[in-house]
Amino acid sequence: AIERTLSIIKPDATKRNLTGKIIAKFEEAGLRVIAQKRIHLTKAQAGTFYVVHKERPFYDELCEFMASEPVVVQVLEGEGAISKNREVMGATNPADAAEGTVRAEFAESVGENSVHGSDAPETAAEEISYFFSGLELVG
Ligand code: CMP
Repeated sequence: AIERTLSIIKPDATKRNLTGKIIAKFEEAGLRVIAQKRIHLTKAQAGTFYVVHKERPFYDELCEFMASEPVVVQVLEGEGAISKNREVMGATNPADAAEGTVRAEFAESVGENSVHGSDAPETAAEEISYFFSGLELVG
């Protein structure tokens, strides 16, 4: 089925001017960018986005990092977009990421791992609506 997923190009990647190289990988895999904006999150906004991780030991560090530099948030659309995006991103820890994936090529560490992608249809819908209104999704 055609799906939509929320993608974030994280501060470590925007800082190193890698947004185009990362978007090219998504497009080469058949995903289409149907919404996109560059924003600088506050720590509180990052905290709300990642609230499911609130009890994790890395939560504070994660929120600080996500607010440290601008991010690019985008909605990707395509056949099986949620799992396809996760394949293109590679494993959370770049040490475990398959060759050719975004994280294998660009991520600096498990925390500073260049990209985020929704993990399931319900979270994709929630995460998309956190950043975008329906009118901003132009398929
Ligand atoms: P993401 O897919 O955005 O979802 C949660 C994020 O938490 C994850 O990518 C990593 O950036 C971060 N994260 C996961 N595990 C760790 C860890 N052990 N230390 C620091 N950050 C982590």
